[in-house]
Amino acid sequence: MAILVTGGLGYIGSHTVVELLNNGFDVVIVDDLSNSERFILKNIEEITGKKPVFYPFDLKRKELLNQVFEAHQIDGCINFAAYKAVGESQEKPIDYYENNLFSLINILQEFKARDISNFIFSSSCTVYGQADVMPIDENTPLKMPESVYGKTKQMGEEILIDFAKAYQRKISLLRYFNPIGAHPTAKIGELPVGVPYNLVPYVMQTAAGVREKLNIWGNDYPTVDGTAVRDYIYVVDLAKAHVAALKRLMEMEPEKTVIDTYNLGTGKGSSVLEVVKAFERANNVEIPYQICERREGDITIAYANADKAERELNWKSETSLEDALKTTWEWQKYLDSRN
Ligand code: UD1
Repeated sequence: MAILVTGGLGYIGSHTVVELLNNGFDVVIVDDLSNSERFILKNIEEITGKKPVFYPFDLKRKELLNQVFEAHQIDGCINFAAYKAVGESQEKPIDYYENNLFSLINILQEFKARDISNFIFSSSCTVYGQADVMPIDENTPLKMPESVYGKTKQMGEEILIDFAKAYQRKISLLRYFNPIGAHPTAKIGELPVGVPYNLVPYVMQTAAGVREKLNIWGNDYPTVDGTAVRDYIYVVDLAKAHVAALKRLMEMEPEKTVIDTYNLGTGKGSSVLEVVKAFERANNVEIPYQICERREGDITIAYANADKAERELNWKSETSLEDALKTTWEWQKYLDSRN
């Protein structure tokens, strides 16, 4: 019995593969390397002393996916494989819909045909948009996201809910807040691709001198210091939540419809300036920055109420912002050492 992890060499995927292997699961990774590199696989093996099975192909290739299901007894799937660049999703909407939704549907066809249950989906707090009440719990009304990337997440959730209801399957929708950091070994982390869109990768590259200064998008928000507030969750803590969510589904009786939804965050909001200051303190470096206009599509504030995950998964975020940001800097040093 094995767990299929799609996008298992990506940022959150690779950390989750490590946690699955450490918890005794057999893992089959499908990843087309569109946003990762082979050394991540080697490093997962170094960290865990175990070898996951790896298939490098695009999940849109149904015939290859079918062969994976023929070759292995798959008992569940954690689906990370997706494009995730918000800006790019606006420029290439059809590519985003095709990639993110077709790959999901192809896996579900195999699940349907083989009576497999236990599906964990990477969703995002973007499905809530700007919520009216903080912190955001799972009953907060959803708003159709502005970005195509966000829409693929919301549509993915809908597809899975219909799948679970029609075929009596068990699914878990995990809504991540803002994942940050890298593995404590500094052997896996988020690989840089072009100019970073997200805050912490940009801060990391500014500290490393790759970027001259950080642009802070707006300081006129109604927040503690005028900069926007988010809930930054350490990627290893986040990875552990996937294992907990999977175990919960697997422990429930088969042939039952289960639709779990969890917000995964720390429960604490931090402003952009607070993140910058925490990074400086944690790593004893200086981050030059300038205040710019607000970024289009940004919300003011979002942080999680993660009580449901604590109650039902016995999971909670354990790592402080500063400790998470230390791992980010170690990861940058590791990347530098490879060049
Ligand atoms: C964005 C997406 C979200 C996605 C997440 C992870 C939107 C509205 N949100 O979240 O759907 O799941 O990325 O990819 O599209 N900031 C700066 N300077 C920078 C970068 C960011 O000031 O160079 C600020 C932003 O304005 C924001 C905060 O830092 O206030 C966090 O930004 P970011 O890391 O991009 O995450 P989100 O916008 O929360």
